[in-house]
Amino acid sequence: YIVNLNKVKAKIQPTMWGLFFEDINRGADGGLYAELVKNRSFDFPDAFMGWKTVPSRQSYGRNEVFQIINQATVNADNPKYLQVTVTKPENVLLQNEGFGGVTVKKGLGYKVGLRVRQHIEGLKVKVEIVNSKGSVVGSAVQEVSRDARNDAGFKLLEGTITPTDTTVNGRLVLRFEGTGKMDIDRVSLMPTDTWKGSAQNMRADLVQKLADIKPGFMRFPGGCIVEGDDLTTRYQWKKTIGPLEQRKLISNQWKDGGASGRAMPDYFQSYGLGFMEYFQLCADMKCEPMPILNCGLSCQFGAGEVVAADEMDEYVQDAMDLIEFANGAVSTAWGKRRAELGHPEPFNMKLLGIGNENWGPQYVERLELFTKAIKARYPNIQLITSTGYTPNPQFKYMDSVLRKMKVDIIDEHYYQTPNWFLMNAGKYDSYDRKGPKIFIGEYACHSIRIGNPGNKNTMLCALAEAAWMTGLERNADVVTMAAYAPLFAHVNDWQWTPNLIWFDNVSSYATPSYYVQQLFADNAGTEVLPLTVNGESIAGQDSVWASAAVDRKAGELILKMVNPSGTTKLKVIEAAGLKAAAKGTMTVLKGDLNAVNSIEMPELVKPVTSAFVAKGKKLEVKLEPHSFTVLRLKMK
Ligand code: AHR
Repeated sequence: YIVNLNKVKAKIQPTMWGLFFEDINRGADGGLYAELVKNRSFDFPDAFMGWKTVPSRQSYGRNEVFQIINQATVNADNPKYLQVTVTKPENVLLQNEGFGGVTVKKGLGYKVGLRVRQHIEGLKVKVEIVNSKGSVVGSAVQEVSRDARNDAGFKLLEGTITPTDTTVNGRLVLRFEGTGKMDIDRVSLMPTDTWKGSAQNMRADLVQKLADIKPGFMRFPGGCIVEGDDLTTRYQWKKTIGPLEQRKLISNQWKDGGASGRAMPDYFQSYGLGFMEYFQLCADMKCEPMPILNCGLSCQFGAGEVVAADEMDEYVQDAMDLIEFANGAVSTAWGKRRAELGHPEPFNMKLLGIGNENWGPQYVERLELFTKAIKARYPNIQLITSTGYTPNPQFKYMDSVLRKMKVDIIDEHYYQTPNWFLMNAGKYDSYDRKGPKIFIGEYACHSIRIGNPGNKNTMLCALAEAAWMTGLERNADVVTMAAYAPLFAHVNDWQWTPNLIWFDNVSSYATPSYYVQQLFADNAGTEVLPLTVNGESIAGQDSVWASAAVDRKAGELILKMVNPSGTTKLKVIEAAGLKAAAKGTMTVLKGDLNAVNSIEMPELVKPVTSAFVAKGKKLEVKLEPHSFTVLRLKMK
């Protein structure tokens, strides 16, 4: 192998390796969003979903104790609340099942919140956390004071519960004592060990895993959920910011199970995490925010609705307002709104996606409307344009139309087999260097088919992804960004597999694919160098895939080498320009091709780093079977 430190092939953008977040597989509600109460505002279409009442609603017919009041004229976004009327002392309680159980840790504080309004004085609410056997592990008494009277509106009652025991399948119970009548809304139980950055109420272990990748960007909020099953369920960013009561709950498109058919009837978007939180998360991780907006089409696999071309103003205005919200001075209307929400400094957004996996002339016609308006006012915003889904028969048509339009960035998605990723590592070698940049907005190696439980995050998949990523790195002048998809999945509640990070209500684990992402991002380098064998890029000769980069800031040469085969490969690398006996580190990720991590064995496969010293001017590297190796060497 030959690498030349004095010949730079291309600059590697700091954005090169990033994240794609979507609320799929309980990614947000029941996942990243740390709220433990399901249907906390009684706004699910079945207002009691997630709740059990005593007395049960059946035994009372329509139930005189618990009534759902729907008062859309007062708050159209959050119209429902619960009314509790107790006329005689009896056992009255309300129990929430959480997301697959309410999970709490012994000794940790949990913030309890509920909004109440009192009509007839006398009712006291006791909030309890009970374990799976029904024993109380923590409680707080909420006295409804006189200022929560009907005429004073809802009042927020708050407290803290510190459980005396850990429980993983518990319940939150509201126990009513005495007689009286009150309204209840937004019942919340939030752990206090959440992520400590500016992004609030996020599970710390999950955010930490994202931050540890050191991502260059984060694409959000989807994915299919941007499109919606139909246009009424499309993602609308303005409905996801501000006070929680102004965030209108909608159904989650993944509720029906998508490709896996694993339906989750209780999957809704509460928007506890909305655009403000996603921007803050990007700021915390120091990565570029990349919001994706609906382009006037709903999911072309769903209702496939198309907004009339002459009624696109609202959609285009949403994009203009979002740019002002993210970047505008506080003197602008939307910049002021951002400041009111606690972030006077602009988020300095540079990337904006128009549509997700949309295609055809309908897409192109609508994209033109967005492009014209945005570029006229914000010429520096880079627009990300869609080519459709993968495998996509319309890809060639879309690619040629978008190139003629001279778009900034084309978003390509790949869910393919290990062999496909290995065989296509050279895909971008022949791409047009003068046209639009390429963003691989979603990709993942699938050992079987989407949604099949057997479709696991195996070591083989991780190696195939690593091999393909060496090809992306070699072509960093064309491919400027890439993100694995999807990011998160709950082990008991998923629609799609494989995924980068898996979790349950207690812990989370990184997959072999995660470590590949992390090793690439952490060792991105600033420039690509030519690395060849017999004058050719190393893309499968002798079953090895490799790339070379230099990190000018650290003054280090970085080599990435993938050996998916079952035999050890000894490689000698002549590094022109490297000092003799250069020192550094070698990090190896290896394992059986079928090896996977799990909740039980979270670190069965993980990278191991050791010291490395070059022999004279040559690097002798032993690439172990089924391994991905990253070598970093000091150049001086
Ligand atoms: O990543 C899962 C889904 O795959 C995304 O929502 C969609 O864009 C693609 O089809």
